[in-house]
Amino acid sequence: MKLRLALAATATFAFAATAFAADEARKPDVAKGRQISETVCAACHGADGNPPTPAYPKLAGQLAPYTFKQLMNFKAASGKEPERKNAIMNGIVATLSPDDMRDLAAFYATQKEKPGVAKNKDTVALGQSIFRGGIVEKSLPACAGCHGPNGLGVPNQYPGIANQWTDYTVAQLKAFRAGERGNDPQGMMRTVAGKMTDAEINAVADYIAGLR
Ligand code: HEC
Ligand code: HEC
Repeated sequence: MKLRLALAATATFAFAATAFAADEARKPDVAKGRQISETVCAACHGADGNPPTPAYPKLAGQLAPYTFKQLMNFKAASGKEPERKNAIMNGIVATLSPDDMRDLAAFYATQKEKPGVAKNKDTVALGQSIFRGGIVEKSLPACAGCHGPNGLGVPNQYPGIANQWTDYTVAQLKAFRAGERGNDPQGMMRTVAGKMTDAEINAVADYIAGLR
């Protein structure tokens, strides 16, 4: 419990540096975001951020500051490697301005995410206990301690993770564990995933897919 509180406290300003709302004079333009989504992103993520196949992550319903941060992280600052590496997305964001990213993030936040399902009855209990209580012997903090009791996230701090495709969640947890994804503030997710076995990752990812 102590650990969970300490971790949560350090994360309070996790997204501050990326300044979703930096340009307060300009409100995000949801209609413009929809237009870019329909023309550039729909082929993979679905026009409303609900992709038809688990090959691409769901974006609908995600908190806008998180989506904005990911788009910024996929884009390389001049002379630097992008903070989040993915061959497809690193190419896609090349043509997007920060305002386009704000508009897209605001648009997806207004869309409703299609519910997912947990498929593996044998591991739901393990997944639920990791999500709600962590694993005390390993000092693994509860996912719910940061991502919220229903996995819906906390604006400006933690993304929503509920309803996401199991395969995508598994892939991200393994990428954090291997250090291949390293754009998490203060290494929070690398620390969490670093303590998890494949079986624990699979169980919690499956449980999260059916979370409401
Ligand atoms: C050709 C397919 C393709 C297109 C087109 C595409 N994406 Fe993606 N996107 C992906 C893949 C694959 C990933 C998963 C990357 C990973 O595994 O890290 C992804 C990941 C993302 C993520 C991270 C999601 C998360 O939960 O962290 C965001 C945000 C995103 N895309 C937004 C967009 C936007 C906005 C557009 C249009 C401007 C777009 N994408 C167009 C394939 C695509
Ligand atoms: C100490 C706080 C904290 C805890 C505990 C935590 N997370 Fe996270 N998690 C984060 C933060 C912060 C991010 C956003 C990283 C970024 O900005 O890219 C994140 C991102 C994620 C993502 C990526 C989402 C996406 O759409 O790509 C997944 C999946 C995830 N967490 C799952 C979990 C699971 C499962 C647990 C429990 C085993 C957990 N998290 C525990 C803070 C936490």
